[in-house]
Amino acid sequence: TITPIILCGGSGTRLWPLSRKSYPKQFSKLMGEETLFQASARRLSGGTSEIRFDRPMVLTNSDFRFIVTEQLTEVGIDPGAILIEPEGRNTAPAVLAAALHAAKADPEAVLLVAPSDHVVPDTKAFHAAIQRGLEALAEGKLVTFGIAPTHPETAYGYLELSRSPGEDGKPVPLSRFVEKPDAARAAEMLAAGNYMWNAGIFLFRAAGIIAAFQKHANALMTPVSQAVDKARVDLGFLRLDPEAWAGADDISIDYAVMEKADNLAVVPFADGWSDLGGWDAVWRESGPDSDGVVAQDRATAIDCRDTLLRSESANLEVVGIGLNNIMAVAMNDAVLIADMSRAQDVKLAVAALKDKG
Ligand code: GDD
Ligand code: MG
Repeated sequence: TITPIILCGGSGTRLWPLSRKSYPKQFSKLMGEETLFQASARRLSGGTSEIRFDRPMVLTNSDFRFIVTEQLTEVGIDPGAILIEPEGRNTAPAVLAAALHAAKADPEAVLLVAPSDHVVPDTKAFHAAIQRGLEALAEGKLVTFGIAPTHPETAYGYLELSRSPGEDGKPVPLSRFVEKPDAARAAEMLAAGNYMWNAGIFLFRAAGIIAAFQKHANALMTPVSQAVDKARVDLGFLRLDPEAWAGADDISIDYAVMEKADNLAVVPFADGWSDLGGWDAVWRESGPDSDGVVAQDRATAIDCRDTLLRSESANLEVVGIGLNNIMAVAMNDAVLIADMSRAQDVKLAVAALKDKG
């Protein structure tokens, strides 16, 4: 069986005003009837005759712990351990804590680390990709999932393939992992043709990733293992020890381990994936009409082109007339209106409001 490790401690500022510090995007119904977190958990439950998922391990912080349990109950998923990070330290300490916790029961446990804020429309295809990834585990590999790049994105990791992938979609060894390149490097890698985007999903054995941390990010070992060993059970949550945790560096697993590891493999995944990294991605994934318009529920577009209009409030109608390349998202207490090309700058709004206090 495979134990899903679901990461849901991020704050998702680029989807303001829907995504808030107190209620980030993964817990919102951004696409469809379920929240992104619920969809992620359901995608990694049950399984097929070939792969079975255990109850998921969830890593989050204290503020979100009841949102997590409530949302899992709503979709009928019984969580395994819910680990509470005393403070957000990014994904490396979180994944290491999960692996150390899992290894206590079984060092050979197969772990699938997944973000909670992605859209993967075809669950069957995703399960098939995971199954192909399992083959590489026998060789002790750390498995990544690769997406064919479409533009020189700087917000992703890039996977350099050691050879072209076969038709069978079997794992391919990686020559290199490059996290968040600058624009020039991203353009180079896109042009080179032998790179894929890192989907941010990882498959490995607990002992395998722990060994990689020991080798490449050894400074995390002492604080994180102490935080796990001294963890306290509280209302069914497992609280990592705050004092030990405070000694862990704030770093992502991509920088801490993946860029340095020499035993990576990639399973190409061609069946639809988006990390909803901005409102432009939400617009694209929502299926724009022939004019490029997305206007759902309490939103109306008249003579608009390539425009996203959303009302997140039951008593707020949003109407756009003659708009071109605009995104407008209205909440009860905040409205965002921006040019679609500035989707990545929405995080500036959050920073600007913070400065205003
Ligand atoms: N529990 C916990 N604690 N979860 C966290 C923390 C933390 O401190 N920080 C982030 N997360 C969660 C986020 O909620 C998200 O689900 C996931 O971990 C990944 O974190 P992001 O902050 O969204 O990473 P990223 O998007 O910048 O980059 C990663 O994903 C890209 C694809 O979306 C990298 O793996 C890139 O290489 C990759 O291309
Ligand atoms: Mg992300």
